[in-house]
Amino acid sequence: MLATTILTAGDPVWPAKPLTIWTATDLHYLSPQLTDYGALFTDVIMAGDAKITEYSPQILDAFCSAVISRKPDALILTGDITFNGELLSLQEASEKLAAVKKAGIPVLVLPGNHDINYYKAYRYSGDQAYNTKNISQEQFREICWEFGPSKAVMVDKNSFSYVYALAEDFWILTLDANTEAASGRIRSETLLWAEEQLRTAQKRGIVVLAATHQNVLPQSKMMSFGYVISNHKEVSALFRNYGVKWNLSGHVHMQHKAEEDGLADIATGSMAVAALRYGIVRLNEKRAFSYEMASVSEKQEEAQERFHKKTHAQVKKTLSGLNITEREAVLMTEFASDINYRYFTGNLEKKYFSKHSEAWALWQKHGADTFFGKYLRSMREEFC
Ligand SMILES: [Fe+2]
Repeated sequence: MLATTILTAGDPVWPAKPLTIWTATDLHYLSPQLTDYGALFTDVIMAGDAKITEYSPQILDAFCSAVISRKPDALILTGDITFNGELLSLQEASEKLAAVKKAGIPVLVLPGNHDINYYKAYRYSGDQAYNTKNISQEQFREICWEFGPSKAVMVDKNSFSYVYALAEDFWILTLDANTEAASGRIRSETLLWAEEQLRTAQKRGIVVLAATHQNVLPQSKMMSFGYVISNHKEVSALFRNYGVKWNLSGHVHMQHKAEEDGLADIATGSMAVAALRYGIVRLNEKRAFSYEMASVSEKQEEAQERFHKKTHAQVKKTLSGLNITEREAVLMTEFASDINYRYFTGNLEKKYFSKHSEAWALWQKHGADTFFGKYLRSMREEFC
């Protein structure tokens, strides 16, 4: 006689296969058809946040080739696919992602705040910028339907949120906080829908990995307003109530992990800014989770140079108001540049503060009340 096994909540489905998921975010891809790389475009990029937008096609091509050759079980992109919400940029990026999908790798996307109805969608020519078509919520849904929703177990009708079953015992739940109706917030209807999905998962003993664009936990004391989902407390409470332990996010552009009461929110660094990060998530047979940061191999030097240039300019401005010697200014700049780069790219450790003890003392003595001084202190508090 055949024995019958009744699965109850929490029972693992056997045999589970290990899973590898790649995640990237904030690609900020700009179609080469929308720029002549001329004067105004260069000014905009140089005044920006250290993105190397002029190389975004090469970066996305190199990344997609790496995904295709390494064949993870899925690729999750947590929003801000486009530079500033240009329809043409999304159409081109989706063609590149279609090649990944065609290679048999599910591509799961979410919109970011720059993707939907963004007001700065421009084409750059010489010293002029011309409006170009931006992306409505409906257009995003149409273009990106094949990246997640088309093969999803459930799709929310009020947003681009969905449940994707990567294995019998493992789901990915994406939550969209960038709808036209509630920008920066998960709609209450969507939260109810998500709770229903999580209840089903819990009943069936399915492990759930969540993904959002904005963060569900503040990643930094200095960077929380505008970076977390505005109703993030409701979202994180929902996750905890149903045993969701990990959320993948982006939006802050830096590589960082926040943890609170058993929930971890891992923000992968922007693929447009040093160190051109992406993440490799691994789940073993028992669904133990690990996250490893990685970098696109192309254009690393260019990204690093732009980042340091940006930090140098910010620090120079800060130091110009202080009564310090040239030698002190050099020490303080080198320290701030090194620490900021390491922090931003997820590589900061306590030892780097002791290595630069003289410079840190100078910052405390002369620059403690400046924005940059406070920023450095917040990093130190986190690591020391
Ligand atoms: Fe964003």
